[in-house]
Amino acid sequence: MKGLILSGGTGSRLYPLTYTNAKQLIPVANKPILFRVIESIRDAGIDDIGIVVGNTAEQIKEAVGRGGRWGVKITYIPQDKPLGLAHAVKVAQPFLGSERFVMFLGDNVIQGGISRLIGEFSTSGWNSQIVLTRIEHPEQYGVAELNEEGRIVRLVEKPKIPPSDLALVGIYMFDHHVFEAVNAIQPSWRGELEITDAIQWLVDNNYTVHPYVHQGWWIDTGAPGDMLSANDLVLEEIGHSIEGYVDRDSKVDHRVTVQRGAEVINSTVRGPAIIGEYARIVNSYIGPFTSIDHHVTVENSEIEHSVVLENSRICDIESRIQDSLIGRDVVVSRSPIKPKSLKLTVGDHSKIGIL
Ligand code: G1P
Repeated sequence: MKGLILSGGTGSRLYPLTYTNAKQLIPVANKPILFRVIESIRDAGIDDIGIVVGNTAEQIKEAVGRGGRWGVKITYIPQDKPLGLAHAVKVAQPFLGSERFVMFLGDNVIQGGISRLIGEFSTSGWNSQIVLTRIEHPEQYGVAELNEEGRIVRLVEKPKIPPSDLALVGIYMFDHHVFEAVNAIQPSWRGELEITDAIQWLVDNNYTVHPYVHQGWWIDTGAPGDMLSANDLVLEEIGHSIEGYVDRDSKVDHRVTVQRGAEVINSTVRGPAIIGEYARIVNSYIGPFTSIDHHVTVENSEIEHSVVLENSRICDIESRIQDSLIGRDVVVSRSPIKPKSLKLTVGDHSKIGIL
């Protein structure tokens, strides 16, 4: 089997973070989501992976390279315009050939990996397998309606009135018949070739599409809130270890990772949390569900349930920072210059919540 990762899109709901970075490269527990996707495909025994890239192609190529780091071979497949997931399958046809493949959206995070799913699909006679999960607001996703025997009746993309609470997770498995489907369908109201329509075409033409209902968590990291949730869940799932330096005056509990070269001085870190390589935490409190990326400094400040990206500095902040997503090379500090006021240099589409 081959792997196909979709890693295009503008990530507009994550502005301003995605002005300078592809959304799939935003780290969750200090590792880009795209790397987690590559690892779960590799762990399922697939080492030939295509990545469909759009206008952030250069960033993705620079970060991922040729795949040697993971023991896989990466092929880049350019998609000129974001014309939909089924369009991405079309442009990937020369790479995929007649092999069975798994398509994984590069911004999706799923609990427990996909090894079992891939194992079942590769030995089955099914033409496709889709992954469904029960969620509260399925109208933001593709939604499936199953009959009493658990077979697919209908799939609808972002329906106003969802026929069920079963959302389509961004992980799909196909054999070569999917190319007939993507060539037969028409663009949707949003001008995209929808993978949901392609799967519906397979169902309508009597191909076997097996619906797997996933029981654990799943997050599509489209918006800042989803990013924080994914960070919470992954921090709870990973194993923790201390490789950096923690001084005697600090308290760091067992669900905390302190990565190589990091220093925790006179501070309290409550897990689950991760302190990245060469980060410095001084006279501070880092609360649960926080990821501090490499080369970040937090000094005389308190922060929890947040993600702070590389090279940022948070110094002398009296109020506790919470529920925040802070980009790269950001400085949040106290200004001694009078008048006592908020002094902001903030990029377009930033969001600041002040008490
Ligand atoms: C896409 C699919 C949708 C699926 C979702 C999962 O949505 O079209 O069916 O439920 O991914 O993340 P999009 O990200 O294009 O809005």
